[in-house]
Amino acid sequence: MNTRREFIKNSAAAVAGAGLIGTVPLASKAHVAASDKIRVALIGCRSMGWSNLRTFLDFPEVECVALCDVDDEWLNKRAADVQEKTGKKVKKLYKDYRKVIDQKNVDLVIIGTPDHWHCLPAVEACQAGKDVYVEKPLANTIEECDLMVKAARKYNRIVQVGQWQRSDPHWEDAARFVQSGKLGNIRTVKVWAWQDSKPTLPVLPDGPVPAGVDYDMWLGPAPKKPFNEYRFHYNFRFFWDYAGGLMADWGVHLLDYAMEAMQVGLPSYVMSAGGKFGYPSDAMETPDTLLTTYAYDKFTMTWDHACGINHGLYGKSHGLAFYGENGTLILDRGGWEVQAVEVKGVPRMEAVPKQGNTGKGLYFHVQNTLDCMRTRKTPNCDVKIGADVAKMTHLGNISVRLGRGLQWDDATSSFKGDAEANQLVKAYYRDPWKLPTV
Ligand SMILES: NC(=O)c1ccc[n+]([C@@H]2O[C@H](COP(=O)([O-])OP(=O)(O)OC[C@H]3O[C@@H](n4cnc5c(N)ncnc54)[C@H](O)[C@@H]3O)[C@@H](O)[C@H]2O)c1
Repeated sequence: MNTRREFIKNSAAAVAGAGLIGTVPLASKAHVAASDKIRVALIGCRSMGWSNLRTFLDFPEVECVALCDVDDEWLNKRAADVQEKTGKKVKKLYKDYRKVIDQKNVDLVIIGTPDHWHCLPAVEACQAGKDVYVEKPLANTIEECDLMVKAARKYNRIVQVGQWQRSDPHWEDAARFVQSGKLGNIRTVKVWAWQDSKPTLPVLPDGPVPAGVDYDMWLGPAPKKPFNEYRFHYNFRFFWDYAGGLMADWGVHLLDYAMEAMQVGLPSYVMSAGGKFGYPSDAMETPDTLLTTYAYDKFTMTWDHACGINHGLYGKSHGLAFYGENGTLILDRGGWEVQAVEVKGVPRMEAVPKQGNTGKGLYFHVQNTLDCMRTRKTPNCDVKIGADVAKMTHLGNISVRLGRGLQWDDATSSFKGDAEANQLVKAYYRDPWKLPTV
């Protein structure tokens, strides 16, 4: 994982790189355009893909050379948005991502598709010698996560995962405070997302595919199912074929910093319980309520999520709390603070008042990506970091799906003595799609 020192170094270099366009020598002309322009293409344009591209376009060296979406509505809307922002027309618009991979003048592919559509384009982009900015969670299965790390390493590509907290300084500051030892012995780390922004998902009848949508391509390697609005844009999050529910959606952002602050990888044991307690008969497949315990040698880590209610620990809709014997560090997107433990009215440490955020995490993350494309340094959220935390969320989800605790063996990337659980580690691709070989 990146150290704080590397983080500062990378950020400083990125700032220099952003301010001195055209004067910063490129590490390797083979990696980015000789003109110093960085030519990007976006696959999956509707929501987060566009947030990413829009931020990349805030940097003057970036040029958008292609857009790809299976839905004409969003493809055309984003083409107009790019033109409005840059004054330039995007030359290539595609519905098939393979045309982006084949396009020679693409330096960076941004992948903003649903989770089941991250692995194939990312691996193929690496194989074609392009760098990648891929949304989180890295992939929808553990097998795909492992494959994507392998591809990035084999083809020596920069693969930045969209966990932009990795570039937002207050997260790093909080992690270093946890590591300072001032909290004393940390016994428990609680991580939660309690969100009333995830309302019930009403059951709807299957319907016709909307005009202009290549639905078979949207499904891609996922099983064939009739079209239904409740599984489509945005809502795919709550169906196992495409994603991993609130656990995978928010868990990757937050559990990442639990692992980073505690300097641990995957646990040896996971146990989840939960279900559809809030919306028993709505359309979601993934649990609306989930509690997962990850076992480590010297402490426990928990994940706790609830859709549709919003009074998580400390009144926060998401966060992490590191419980030490001297104090508790509470961290979320807004900042961090430390509350001292008091024994008989005597505090065991000095409390730390609220430390705020910059509100520019995504901007810094994009800046770090551009810097790493030039220098070939490891990005702040390297593919291995994205893989480990995506796997962490999949462990929790597999445990709740099977209704039992599971022993994890990270060396073999498999569960110990549980064939059924190991079936859920694997990716199953619908013909004609094949899991790429690396
Ligand atoms: N980093 C963050 O903070 C953050 C925030 C939100 C979403 N995300 C991630 O971004 C990804 C997309 O989520 P979203 O909310 O933007 O979804 P969305 O449904 O709004 O957008 C996905 C887009 O991808 C398109 N698409 C689907 N399959 C495609 C294919 N094969 N080729 C080209 N286009 C295809 C869809 O038509 C749609 O336009 C998810 O993995 C999600 O977890 C990250």
